[in-house]
Amino acid sequence: MTKHKIALIGSGNWASATGKIMGENILGSPKLQAIFEIGIQMWTYEEMIDGRKITEIINTKHQNVKYLPGIDLPHNLIANPDLVDCTKNATILVFCLPHQFLPRTLSTMKPHVNPKAIGISLIKGMMFEETKLLPITTFITRTIGIPMAVLSGANVADEIAKGQLCETTIGAVDETHVKLFKDLFHTDAFRVSVVKCPPPSIEIYGACKNVVALGAGFVDAFDFGNNTKSAIIRNGAIEILKLIKLLTGCKDDTIALESCGIADLITTCFGGRNRKCAEKWARSRMVGIDLSKDEEAPIDIGMSWEEVEEELLGGQKLQGNLTAEEIYVIIKREHLEKEFPLLTMICRISEGSEPVTSILKF
Ligand code: NAD
Ligand code: 13P
Repeated sequence: MTKHKIALIGSGNWASATGKIMGENILGSPKLQAIFEIGIQMWTYEEMIDGRKITEIINTKHQNVKYLPGIDLPHNLIANPDLVDCTKNATILVFCLPHQFLPRTLSTMKPHVNPKAIGISLIKGMMFEETKLLPITTFITRTIGIPMAVLSGANVADEIAKGQLCETTIGAVDETHVKLFKDLFHTDAFRVSVVKCPPPSIEIYGACKNVVALGAGFVDAFDFGNNTKSAIIRNGAIEILKLIKLLTGCKDDTIALESCGIADLITTCFGGRNRKCAEKWARSRMVGIDLSKDEEAPIDIGMSWEEVEEELLGGQKLQGNLTAEEIYVIIKREHLEKEFPLLTMICRISEGSEPVTSILKF
């Protein structure tokens, strides 16, 4: 049997952490070495760090010093700046990059994709095409013609890279692909569950929880206890499931209690980058505001999302503000504001048409 060749498309925080998981799994298992080639090509967006190429640093120091600093990566995870070279040899494509870079990346890959390749998306976001929101896996299948699975869960990359126990969820239509991907990713500490639910529902949850996490960050700027945040999480969970039904027609709620459901929402609302950036963004608008007098924060003062991202994330990318823009187009167009009061309020605050103090009025 010809062995699968894996290309990991992306080299950021989560891509490096999952590259580590896959690489170490293969190195440690003769059974997996019979199925997968040992080397994993990690397509790495080239950049210079202190005068050296990031690919060269990863391949010599075996650490991604910019996006996952302090964590040793296995020697079989090979940084490669040539996207075409990574693509043309791969039979398994693992997509893990911020979703705003996906269209350009796919158009470079398209002529070189092996038609028998299969893929899995680790991306949390959605694509906006003409007038429709498209799940990432649908967008990838349409663009490069390969079947796609999805992996999503309560998975803050830095914690997983340190080996802390967590769970994740894989969804795919094809049973043989599910088994292959479970073998590739599952470890004692990174526990994979498989659900029958179609990938789009899982992906819409993963994208929208980033929007709810902005709401969690906004209320953190009020310095309240956890009850208010729990209200954001509970209402967010309800609205996300409603949105999934609306966008996919799928009435199956099984994912709600999976790692890709409520667990992801909770971890992101407490420990994620979207929450952290939203708190900073909100605080920059609340300077001098007296909440006891019910004062409104200004909408025209404060840091931009780009400034917060730059200051807090060191090159990593925020997804929640982009997804908020995307889902708000649909909410407005379909006049769904009353159906989705929390999501609507978060989207309005995020785009700057409502003061951040309105988060308590959803
Ligand atoms: P990240 O936020 O660390 O993003 C930075 C990456 O984007 C770097 O590799 C950088 O080189 C690359 N980049 C910058 N400009 C680019 C360009 N023009 N074209 C292509 N790439 C470019 O990335 P990440 O954390 O690996 O996130 C990837 C996906 O995984 C996202 O959808 C995210 O929501 C999801 N995710 C992240 C985590 C996490 O904890 N980080 C957990 C689960 C899911
Ligand atoms: P953030 O992008 O907000 O860090 O969320 C990471 C994540 O998806 C955790 O599951």
